[in-house]
Amino acid sequence: MKRTQLLKRTIAVLMFAVLPLGAFAASGGYPLDEMVPDMTDKASLQRGAKTYMNYCYGCHATGFQRYERVADDLGIPHDLMMENLMPAGGKIGDLMTNGMDPKESKNWFGATPPDLTLVARVRGTDWLYTYLRTFYLDPKRPYGVNNKVFPDVGMPHVLLELQGAQVDTCGGGASQLDTLTGEKLCGLEPDSSIKGSMTPGQFDQAMYDLVNFLSYSGEPMQLERQRLGIYVLLFLLVFFVVAYLLKREYWKDVH
Ligand code: HEC
Repeated sequence: MKRTQLLKRTIAVLMFAVLPLGAFAASGGYPLDEMVPDMTDKASLQRGAKTYMNYCYGCHATGFQRYERVADDLGIPHDLMMENLMPAGGKIGDLMTNGMDPKESKNWFGATPPDLTLVARVRGTDWLYTYLRTFYLDPKRPYGVNNKVFPDVGMPHVLLELQGAQVDTCGGGASQLDTLTGEKLCGLEPDSSIKGSMTPGQFDQAMYDLVNFLSYSGEPMQLERQRLGIYVLLFLLVFFVVAYLLKREYWKDVH
């Protein structure tokens, strides 16, 4: 391969590897709320898995992931996993694909619900956390809702019964801030037409858990890394003591 060709290819690869992070994280100017995943919080991951299986899995697959691995990683006993979190008749070793026909779903929603195994890596956790909390009523859309970070999204507000309806007091534009004080002048507010079963605080927590689970799903090694990290630190500690004792031994006669 000629050098210029090699250079071109390297640049192309780099662009594919690096660009999407910036490009897909775009939110149309809407400020994203921060979400820092916590892999040590097993209870949060378990709750997230439950919300995911109950509210998302009907449309979205996580097809690069197996039920068994999720159960083992999150500390969910196999029988509980099969009874509560899996479709009837599924086997614990199955991939988490689902039965929705991509063509039909395209007909229904105008877009096929994408596989979510890696979505946290593509979109980022801040984006997901904000996306799931910013559906608002918009009579112009086929499902009566729109979204702040994904304008004209094809996904219905599937968590309406939990969150309740929201209206956008800015009338669809990006949320407006007071130029002097930075205070929010308008934005999303609860609408009394449909009340959610959760308080805003509970809903935020549920969405945190759900995004935590999706973050785990995109990179299950995160759990392993943390476990390994502790061993590495322990090793360094022991090694330090040994090295110190050795040093003392060697320098004994010099001093
Ligand atoms: C009724 C079917 C349905 C359900 C249930 C559903 N979604 Fe969706 N979702 C869709 C469709 C359709 C799209 C594609 C929207 C588009 O491209 O306009 C989508 C898009 C998304 C996207 C954007 C993906 C991307 O990167 O473009 C995310 C993230 C997402 N859904 C997460 C979820 C989560 C989390 C849940 C569970 C709380 C969920 N969805 C439940 C139908 C659904």
